[in-house]
Amino acid sequence: MNEHVRVVEVGPRDGLQNEQAIVPTAIKIELIERLAACGYDTVEATSFVSPKWIPQLADAEAVMHGLRRRPGVRYPVLVPNLQGYACARVAGASEIAVFTAASEAFNQTNINASIDESIARFEPVLAQALADGVAVRGYVSTVLGCPYQGEVPLRDVVRVAARLHALGCGEISLGDTIGVGTPAKARAMLRAVADAVPMTALAVHFHDTYGQALANILACLEEGVRVIDAAVAGTGGCPYARGASGNVASEDVIYMLHGMGLHTGVDLDALVASGHWLAAQLGRVTGSRVGRARAAETA
Ligand code: HMG
Ligand code: MG
Repeated sequence: MNEHVRVVEVGPRDGLQNEQAIVPTAIKIELIERLAACGYDTVEATSFVSPKWIPQLADAEAVMHGLRRRPGVRYPVLVPNLQGYACARVAGASEIAVFTAASEAFNQTNINASIDESIARFEPVLAQALADGVAVRGYVSTVLGCPYQGEVPLRDVVRVAARLHALGCGEISLGDTIGVGTPAKARAMLRAVADAVPMTALAVHFHDTYGQALANILACLEEGVRVIDAAVAGTGGCPYARGASGNVASEDVIYMLHGMGLHTGVDLDALVASGHWLAAQLGRVTGSRVGRARAAETA
């Protein structure tokens, strides 16, 4: 296999939104710049959400203003509504992501809205973004289980993904927010969504709570997906998903993909170094197994 897989680095957003301590703005900016220098084409930078809900990312504007952008790198930001969209644009964002879930219960806790209400909020955001030439990604959370309602019917995942796509989201990221999925379920979920949305418009987003993330990614790669979300050093969780542990570590994903002969454009050594740097800033060891193995080899 010599195909390209696009790995979307979500650490600065999905990783840092869940840190207990507020990470200084300068560290966030350095993290994004380091990651862009590793060869990613997309580094999700921050969120323009309510600071009362996510105080960890309350400095979104300062992060976007402080960032030295590398040509060719995309720096999308999350926005929940028109207010967030307007602030993101003033701060220079040229790509955004909207987010909802396949579970009603999760949406109420995460964004204080039903699925339909959340989509109604996105409609004007999408209309404005499309008019402005701003690319939009749509996240669907809880695709393999919900911390509040448990099982999430596949038809709900398909319905929400298809709706976001029809509204103009060019890419739909399917999120196992609490990391409970297993490979056969992940494959079946992706297959069902791909009947309604082209596979080329789909991405997968796994959290590693039960240690299944790489196995799930492999199953989805075999099913045909070529866009994978991951977070450096395995940072993250979800503030509104009890028990959710980190995102799958980018280093581990890149190691697996390169080992399979797939191309990502990401320099694994530089990424491992960035993961150790971030972990040191956060006062702990990296959540990446590849990072820890590399450190042990050189100790
Ligand atoms: P609300 O409290 O229901 O709404 O929040 P509101 O519209 O009544 O606004 C309340 C206050 O927030 C007002 O301020 C607004 O001005 C302000 P006040 O008058 O009280 O001073 N406000 C804002 N401030 C800044 N930026 C904004 C904004 N909007 C309103 N954009 C809202 C509704 C959606 C805003 C809120 O629930 C929210 O911001 N939620 C964010 C939740 C979040 O970011 N969750 C994590 C991301 S999702 C995720 O991690 C999953 C993912 O990784 C995939 C996966 O793993 O599955 C993507
Ligand atoms: Mg996530």
